[in-house]
Amino acid sequence: MDQYAVIGYPIKHSLSPLIHTLFAEQLGETITYTAIESPVDGFQDTLSRFRKQGGCGVNVTVPFKLEAFQLADQISELAERAKAVNTLCWQDDQLVGYNTDGIGLLADLTQHQGLNLQGKRILVLGAGGAVRGILAPLLAEAPFEVAIANRTQRKAEALVEEFFELGPVRYQLPSSRTVPFDVIINGTSSSLTDDRPFCDPSWFNADTFVYDMMYGAKLPSFLAWVKAQGVLNVADGLGMLVEQAASAYEIWRGKRPETASVLAHVRASLV
Ligand code: ATR
Repeated sequence: MDQYAVIGYPIKHSLSPLIHTLFAEQLGETITYTAIESPVDGFQDTLSRFRKQGGCGVNVTVPFKLEAFQLADQISELAERAKAVNTLCWQDDQLVGYNTDGIGLLADLTQHQGLNLQGKRILVLGAGGAVRGILAPLLAEAPFEVAIANRTQRKAEALVEEFFELGPVRYQLPSSRTVPFDVIINGTSSSLTDDRPFCDPSWFNADTFVYDMMYGAKLPSFLAWVKAQGVLNVADGLGMLVEQAASAYEIWRGKRPETASVLAHVRASLV
């Protein structure tokens, strides 16, 4: 039986085994997909052990995405841009690294949330690894602008410099503006501590679509806050999780699962 796994630390609460099991069931395929917790200093050993046991492909999550990027023999273009790998596949004993996070976000925004980002004013909050992974796919949608705001200004400015050749990306000062954004994406990890990033009230109005890349049984704290400010449409990152998984499944097995029913199932499992 073809074996797959997600490797991370911690990994106990990963939804990936459920998602990939549902994909395989839907497509009438038989696979195993397990969650493997790796010691923080032992990713390479964990990966080799899984390969020796017959592993075909791996998802990589926190904190190993950069190490996976460094270990891969070949790197896809999006993973190169993201400087991070979330999907690994052995092809003739070459380890190939991909990043499906950004296309997962785009698939969620355009298919499940029904957004068209062409010509839109987009604000991204945060400038860490998660944001680095989404900038190239966002800019490929031909938005009017992608502004980046971050607690630490220099990190946002460094990302702007790195990505400006791909489209209209710029730094957003923490000051008010006259035109609200159409879409705001929270790519910070602040919800993990029930915190929220700075977001000036002039940056959005009731019609701004607000997305948070975090997910859980509870609405991420940033989304709860914008809703309390009157924002009507918000979405958490569960759809992105399911879509990045569908892209990984397609890389490994050449078939793309249908995602809406899987997303509904996974959402129901959270409560
Ligand atoms: P990830 O891989 O999840 O992106 P990261 O690279 O450590 O993790 O980046 C975390 C991001 O969340 C950063 O943009 C960080 O802001 P700083 O660059 O100023 O550190 C942001 N972040 C984390 N906690 C935050 C908080 N409580 N308020 C605002 N921003 C926060």
